[in-house]
Amino acid sequence: MTQNAADRKPKILALIGGISRGSINKKLFVFFKEAAGGSLEFDEFDIKSLPFYSQDIEEAPPSEAVDFKERIKVCDGVLIITPEYNRSFPGVLKNALDWGSRPYGQNLWSGKPAGLIGASPGAIGTFGAQNQLRQVLNFLDLRTMNQPEFYFSFPRELENGRLPRSSDEFLKSYVAKFREWVARV
Ligand SMILES: Cc1cc2nc3c(=O)[nH]c(=O)nc-3n(C[C@H](O)[C@H](O)[C@H](O)COP(=O)(O)O)c2cc1C
Repeated sequence: MTQNAADRKPKILALIGGISRGSINKKLFVFFKEAAGGSLEFDEFDIKSLPFYSQDIEEAPPSEAVDFKERIKVCDGVLIITPEYNRSFPGVLKNALDWGSRPYGQNLWSGKPAGLIGASPGAIGTFGAQNQLRQVLNFLDLRTMNQPEFYFSFPRELENGRLPRSSDEFLKSYVAKFREWVARV
């Protein structure tokens, strides 16, 4: 029996800009998946597996980049979870976005619905990173959800390793809006 497209769970390509073992943004992704409660199918791509993008290798890309491009093509939406590095987003995330945008004229991001979230220990909870990243996502023609904005401050918002109820409710409402956004775009 083939699955009807309407019955299929939206497939979300997840890119996490935090690549350290103890990344708080990886933790945020765990909370996000819990809040989604099985309503979305997640494909988490390990962006640190990608070599540095160079025009010298874009026509015959390494296998990791070929795999990444295939996964962009088949996804219904993209979720980007970014840390803040020096009031911007990490270079490893930019490298992944660059891979998906090239060769020239073959930008795979175009038209994909996207969600943008992030956590940092600082008070502004990745606003600086997201503010800059939005400019790049706009240029790449991703359809990034504008509202609600999503800035989490960890560990301030963690109680015994869990989110307090108000943050958990906000996360759930964000996930619901993101699902609607992916379905609509
Ligand atoms: C190079 C570097 C720059 C950073 N710059 C900022 C910053 O501008 N704002 C901020 O809130 N935190 C900053 N931090 C702290 C990070 O938010 C913190 O290390 C966080 O845990 C990184 O996310 P991750 O755990 O998901 O990797 C910086 C950390 C590093 C390593």
